[in-house]
Amino acid sequence: MKRIIRKNLIISLSILFITIAIAVIISVTLIHSKTLNNSLTKKNIKNSDKLILGFSQIGSESSWRTRNTQSIFEAAADNDIQILFDDAQQKQENQLKAIRSFIVYQVDVIAFVPIVEDGWDNVLQEAKDAGIPVILVDRQINADPSLYAGFLGENGVEEGRRAARYLVNKCKNRSGDINIFEISGTENSSIVEDRARGFREIISTNSKFKIIHSENGDFLRSRGKEIGDMLLASNVLENGNTTNTIYYNKQKIDVIFSHNDSMTLGFLDSMEAHKINPKGKGTIIISIDGEQECIDAMIAGKINCVVECNPNHGQMLMALVKQIARGEPIPRITYNYETVFTEDDNFSKYDPRGY
Ligand code: AHR
Repeated sequence: MKRIIRKNLIISLSILFITIAIAVIISVTLIHSKTLNNSLTKKNIKNSDKLILGFSQIGSESSWRTRNTQSIFEAAADNDIQILFDDAQQKQENQLKAIRSFIVYQVDVIAFVPIVEDGWDNVLQEAKDAGIPVILVDRQINADPSLYAGFLGENGVEEGRRAARYLVNKCKNRSGDINIFEISGTENSSIVEDRARGFREIISTNSKFKIIHSENGDFLRSRGKEIGDMLLASNVLENGNTTNTIYYNKQKIDVIFSHNDSMTLGFLDSMEAHKINPKGKGTIIISIDGEQECIDAMIAGKINCVVECNPNHGQMLMALVKQIARGEPIPRITYNYETVFTEDDNFSKYDPRGY
């Protein structure tokens, strides 16, 4: 009897022990797996959730612009950042639509190249209300600065000053009026206004420099050619045949100041079609951007000076995007490095431009 009671007790204790052991194992496993799951979830978010950047580009009006877009795509790939891209085809309304779609998509950061300065307040307020930071690239805007995180791009005023400083130095020994024909880019864009302001600031120190006309070429090669054709047409009317000297409104043009290389190249296309090399007859040609084709034209003796505008914004933009995503503030203004190329340089020292 005693043996039976002891046997039952042993069985009961064993069952109790096994039950407790199973309970302990189950609870330890549960606690452990919960911790593991939590850390896995965090790890997954870090490793697989790429930052998403909504980027609205204005179009592809120049080789400069094409390189600008490429640079942003290349840097996004290098930094494992996903891009939602929109090409606005030179229309502000398309940019507004694109930015609104980025907001609906809840991207982490929005970057855009504002085609013109005005008309962004409402859409930027919408982005701000949605908690999405915005970075301006290449061009600036007229809006409350609290509506965007910062600007990355070139110093347009300084580019204009550099063009003018070259001219002032080039003409330091010349007396008499120096007539400047300006070919400018997209109307109401910050870049055109800044370059024009910087250029005028420097030339205004000497009254011999006179801007006799400013013509909008929309940053397009085709428009540069049209402007060249228009000048030559009046030149032909003036003297019955075409010469290397070009006129506007019966005034001899001493200087062509073109706000970008595409328009300069279009202008030269027009001249070359008529076998004219204005620089060969002393017309000073100054351009902005630094495209390879324009540098080559300078080496070939068709242009005097090319002020660099650096389109390689990609790596700097991605650094700013990551900084913002970490919750850190970014500088209000980040300028890209830029230089000046002139006919007096040692061309063998130039690296290939890449655009
Ligand atoms: O905003 C930069 C300007 O836009 C570049 O000078 C020009 O080539 C481009 O189209």
